[in-house]
Amino acid sequence: MKILILDDAKAASARAAGLIAAQVAARPASVLGLATGGTMEAVYARLIALYRAGEVSFAGVSSFNLDEYVGLAGDHPCSYRHYMRELLFDHIDMAPGAGHLPAGEAPDPEGEALRYEEAIVAAGDIDLQLLGLGLNGHIGFNEPTSSLASITRLKTLTRETREANARFFPAGETPPRLAITMGIGTIMRARQVLLVATGAAKSEAVRQVIEGPVSARWPGSVLQMHRNATLVLDRDAASGLELLDYYLDIHPE
Ligand code: F6R
Repeated sequence: MKILILDDAKAASARAAGLIAAQVAARPASVLGLATGGTMEAVYARLIALYRAGEVSFAGVSSFNLDEYVGLAGDHPCSYRHYMRELLFDHIDMAPGAGHLPAGEAPDPEGEALRYEEAIVAAGDIDLQLLGLGLNGHIGFNEPTSSLASITRLKTLTRETREANARFFPAGETPPRLAITMGIGTIMRARQVLLVATGAAKSEAVRQVIEGPVSARWPGSVLQMHRNATLVLDRDAASGLELLDYYLDIHPE
């Protein structure tokens, strides 16, 4: 794992956006794996700025998002399809229809999960997968005890995840209990993985993922087995790392 520790969340987001832009420059027809959540808001804002500055074009790019809530239609303001349109797709030159997400309102969610997995395989799998990190170590919505070989499927969200994500829902509304998520095996097939974690609240998950044992208890720890994984952290998220000095020494950012 390549561990890059930046001074603050702004610098970490800019670094992550720069790595995505470099992937797209190297392969304009890249298949990107995208994430949602609070951490990605600054990453996407920076990508949009790079696009507006003429430093990157997404015209040839296609993308697959990690996950979507079951039961939310694409026009629901808390759906991840809505999030992606508002925070990225509507502001860059990606071709219409090139940004894929699981259909949360599909009448057969299990069938939809399988269809989504097959679409990723048919696209030749993902070139660069962007990931956030849950407080409990989840990647995508692969909650603790998810099979490390799993493919896209339905997952029940933990209470902790639903509470953490309640901030994106109107007062009184809670996130759905079920989501369709790429599996850990799906994520591990990506040729490159880029995880971004910022803020002190993530420091325990970051420590477990980087320095703990590879275990379904902290699903992100599986990235220790990936050949090309980069973790971009800010100082706060990195604050619990035992070998912090070593990481700073190898990549003094
Ligand atoms: C979102 C996703 C999740 C989030 C994670 C961190 O598509 O798959 O794994 O990346 O829950 O969320 P934030 O950034 O809101 O802390």
